[in-house]
Amino acid sequence: MKKTTVREKNIATSVLVIGTGGSGLRSAIELAEQGTDVLAVGKRPRHDAHTSLAAGGINAALGTMDTEDSWQQHAADTLKESYYLADPRTVEIVARGAAQGIADLERYGMGFAREDDGRISQRFFGAHTFRRTAFAGDYTGLEIQRSLVARSEQLQIPILDTVYITDLLVQHNRVFGAYGFDLNDGTRYLIHADAVILAAGGHNRIWRRTSSRRDENTGDSFRLAVEAGARLRDPELVQFHPSGIIEPENAAGTLISEAARGEGGILRNALGERFMERYDPERMELSTRDRVALAAYTEIKEARGTEKGGVWLDISHLPREVIMERLPRVYQTMLEVQMRDITREPIEIAPTAHYSMGGVWVNPHDHATEVNGLYAIGEASSGLHGANRLGGNSLIELLVFGRIVGQAAAEYSAKLQAQTRSADAVAAARARVEKLLAADGVENVRALQRAIRDLMTEHAGVVRDEAGLTAGLEKLAQIEERIGNVGIHPDIAGYQDLAHAFDLLSSALSARATLEAALERRETRGCHNRSDYPQMDPELQVNLVWSPTAGISREEIPGIPQEIAELIREVSTAGKLVE
Ligand code: FUM
Repeated sequence: MKKTTVREKNIATSVLVIGTGGSGLRSAIELAEQGTDVLAVGKRPRHDAHTSLAAGGINAALGTMDTEDSWQQHAADTLKESYYLADPRTVEIVARGAAQGIADLERYGMGFAREDDGRISQRFFGAHTFRRTAFAGDYTGLEIQRSLVARSEQLQIPILDTVYITDLLVQHNRVFGAYGFDLNDGTRYLIHADAVILAAGGHNRIWRRTSSRRDENTGDSFRLAVEAGARLRDPELVQFHPSGIIEPENAAGTLISEAARGEGGILRNALGERFMERYDPERMELSTRDRVALAAYTEIKEARGTEKGGVWLDISHLPREVIMERLPRVYQTMLEVQMRDITREPIEIAPTAHYSMGGVWVNPHDHATEVNGLYAIGEASSGLHGANRLGGNSLIELLVFGRIVGQAAAEYSAKLQAQTRSADAVAAARARVEKLLAADGVENVRALQRAIRDLMTEHAGVVRDEAGLTAGLEKLAQIEERIGNVGIHPDIAGYQDLAHAFDLLSSALSARATLEAALERRETRGCHNRSDYPQMDPELQVNLVWSPTAGISREEIPGIPQEIAELIREVSTAGKLVE
């Protein structure tokens, strides 16, 4: 198979979008609506992109249920719960633009849950002052993805569902396209573009228990951006969602939506205690994700968890019709994977790696990176969430910034006077694929991916410390060495093994960035719990910006506008205990 001559397709477009989840498709739609030539490529079928897994809802201060809500209050809640690491400018753009994002979805035919009088329903999600989360059962992401796919098809946006991008093509700090291959038949793709939008997700699959499926969120965006000359911001800030299922092993980490708590779910330990009373008596199960995740972790660690290492989430007291109507996916998932009827029995859960709150450094206004013509969006980017993301904010971010980034890339392309290409950069990308295809070493790619997930789980989970992070870096160095000796064996079924090898490179880079930044953040803030530094350090109310060559630098965060600052409510942090 390795000896056959491969075809290389040469394509030119104005803007290339990498990733066909919500953020990729929303920006592609904007480009197409503006009349700009766009091509979107993804490594999995568009209908099944990761966004389709997003469950419980999407935030906008529509005030349909609580009329006092406002975009300013949405911004205040987001900033407060980011532990002041979110960029206030990004937050303001998202909160102000959220209603427009919902209107765009309605325009594409999205079927939101509604009240009897036709208003969009909104539910509580953790740490929101008001009911602000619009939804479609607990299939919100799936419904959004369907609406975006339908609109893309109406606009006849060209989408390649099986193209794996291996390298961005850059000359003099300006992107001019990307190189990749087809996952089925290995055909190479040389794609020339004026601008590139990176919408290929985050890196939460580098933990063993994660809400991402196999081969999703393996850090592809981070590697592509960094190798192109961009930097990462706060890669250590990874959200552990409190409720992932714990068995069977091959489904461990699968999400049980926060909507289950939003609808009245109760958390108990193995002793039957409603343990959130100890950690956040005011907000209880509707506390922030970082606090609920740490609470569950602590209960398990201190031997009050179940035999299998979990805690109980119980919704069996809710009326059956509420569960069937508002939590149908949770119901179906638990039946499918455990044959458990959650209208009668509680669900055994534990924290699961869920979302990269840090990501590629982008400017707050239009998500341009430091590489000319390169943009990043969605989980690939950074700036909105800081050290703790409010549930429902990621979906609205992709709607708001999808529009903005699409417009920015269209404008950049229109204004570009001339594009410079580099035959050397193309040759290097081609040679890299050739070299990996010829690799016949003894190391197995899947086993090395597993080794990274093991070390991240052991050393960079919910609670971290200096010794553990240092040990993690030592193990990672050994894995990086072994990566030099992999064997790649595409077979008659396709080129997945080659894709896994690039996923592995992405995972290794993302793991290194995470461990190094986690070591540097010597404090406890939001999702980042350092048992050796259990307090928040005011000096570290900064973003940590990472590059493999320059290391870590600190970036100041601008002040919060007065009209938002005055809406921030102080919440007691008593009970946020790190052992
Ligand atoms: O729990 C959930 O439904 C997840 C929502 C989110 O991460 O925004």
